[in-house]
Amino acid sequence: MREPFEGLPEGSLVLGIETSCDETAASVVRDGTEILSSVVSSQVDLHARYGGVVPEVASRAHTELLVPVTAQALVEAGVAGKDIAAVAATTGPGLVGALLVGVSAAKALALTWGVPFVSVNHLEAHLYAALLEEPDLEFPLVVLLVSGGHTMLVEMTDHGEYRLLGETLDDAAGEAFDKVARFLGLGYPGGPAIDTAALSGDPTAIRFPRAMIDDGLDFSFSGLKTAVVNHVRANPDAATEDVAASFQAAVVDVLVAKSRRAAVQSGAKALALGGGVAANTLLREQFLGGCADDRIQGFLPSRSMCTDNAAMIASAGWYRLQRLGPSSLDTGADPRDRLFQR
Ligand code: KG4
Ligand code: ZN
Repeated sequence: MREPFEGLPEGSLVLGIETSCDETAASVVRDGTEILSSVVSSQVDLHARYGGVVPEVASRAHTELLVPVTAQALVEAGVAGKDIAAVAATTGPGLVGALLVGVSAAKALALTWGVPFVSVNHLEAHLYAALLEEPDLEFPLVVLLVSGGHTMLVEMTDHGEYRLLGETLDDAAGEAFDKVARFLGLGYPGGPAIDTAALSGDPTAIRFPRAMIDDGLDFSFSGLKTAVVNHVRANPDAATEDVAASFQAAVVDVLVAKSRRAAVQSGAKALALGGGVAANTLLREQFLGGCADDRIQGFLPSRSMCTDNAAMIASAGWYRLQRLGPSSLDTGADPRDRLFQR
């Protein structure tokens, strides 16, 4: 019989593993907040020629990359398997084949090393990127989580205590970036491509719609995508950089206005960003505007913590383990795992 779990002692190291989409990542984090290593192997080049992530190609690449990536994370941290106190892995949401590679490896390592396995929700991990780098952020904390698959405003009242304040009614912000970039011929992944093109464009060149900007905390981006397509078809000579900059400005205006509204309405003490789109240059420039006026502590995690990585998995795993104890080794991958039941 297993001993009842009494929490990890101070100084404990968690190995995090992330394989939910197209990054193979492993990381060693001490006490949920001190990153000893964070290795991310991106498969972008493998998927670029297809214009998006091909699930079967992703699973295969994770299988090949996970062992060397994990070994590198241990070496860079200067530790060995015997020093690891728990293994955390993303169990969902994500691509099922891709998730299975990380989940199986994490459970095998936990079993071999005789340490707890802990299942982590990928969205919860994105929320923890801010707390990982700034553990003193005060609750209630509002996080704008903007990734390729999700756009949500989440209120965190304590560790593991979340309330959904608003979410997209159609496309995620990252999805809109990726679709518009593909339409403009800027390639994949679209977010960074638009970010770069926009640097030499005029954000006021075209006035694209700011859907629902004055209305509540939900988002809608599919109309904006259509507006870009219609504009370019009607104005084939429009400079791509101007279209990219004007599109980006429309997305960012809405994200910033709603985040601020969410923070003020919920009486938040802090406001932070998470998810891949949080790496966007304009969003980062504008996100904190107004926080000081509203007496809210604003925080931008570093770009490498916003995009997919395993340090955020190890951190969220550490907090989860301390609160709820280990996950069962029967836990499988859940491609549609939800952080909220609405
Ligand atoms: O969080 P993430 O790495 O993976 C998911 O969990 O989805 O987010 C990926 C998304 C993609 O849609 C990508 O185009 C977008 O984040 N992204 C960006 C930037 N970097 C990544 N979007 C806008 N500007 C960026 N600099
Ligand atoms: Zn992600």
